Amino acid sequence: MAKTVDMRLKTSLLEDTVKKLNKQIQMEGVSSFYYLGMASWAEIHGYKHAAQFLFDHAAEENLHMMKIMKYVNDAGGHAHAPEIKNIRNEFASLREVFETILEHEVAVSKAINNLVDYCFTAKDFGTFQFLQWFVGEQREEEAVSRQMLDFFDLIGEEGQGLYLIDLEIGKFAAQINAAAQTEAK
Ligand code: FEO
Repeated sequence: MAKTVDMRLKTSLLEDTVKKLNKQIQMEGVSSFYYLGMASWAEIHGYKHAAQFLFDHAAEENLHMMKIMKYVNDAGGHAHAPEIKNIRNEFASLREVFETILEHEVAVSKAINNLVDYCFTAKDFGTFQFLQWFVGEQREEEAVSRQMLDFFDLIGEEGQGLYLIDLEIGKFAAQINAAAQTEAK
C-alpha cells in the first residue's frame, strides 16, 4: 500500500523559521489586544479620538498577524493562532497609554529586526524579503507613537489640555489614514 504523504511536511521553510514566525504571530496578536484594551479605556474616559485611533490600530495589528499566518501556511508551514492573556485594561492616564504603546512598538521593532537578521544568516531570502514590509511598518508606527507623545508636551495636560490633545490625536490619525489611502491607490 502506498504511503500517505503528509503534505504539511512539504515546506521550504526551516522548522526554526516556522517557530520564529509563530512567535511573531503571537506578538502581533497580543499587540492587537493591547490596543483593544487601551481603546476601550480611552473610550470610557471620554477620549473619543484617541479611542478611535486605538480601535483602528487594534484592527491593523490583527491584519499584521494574519499576514504572517498566511505567509507561513502558503509556504507549507503551520501558523498557530496566538494565546491571548494578561491584557491590560487599566491605565493611569492617556499619556501612559501612549508611553506604553511606544515602549511596545520599540519591542516589536527589535523582534522584527532579530527575525530579519536570523533569515539573512539562515539564507532564507524569501522570508527575508517578506519581512521588509514589517521593517518599514515598524519605523512608521514608532514615529506615530512619538508624534502622539509630543502632543502631550507641546499642549500640556492642564486645563483643556487633554481635550485639545485628544483633538490633535484625531487630526493626526485622519492624516495618516488619508496618506495610507493615497498610497493604496
Ligand atoms: Fe504590528 Fe505594531 O506591531
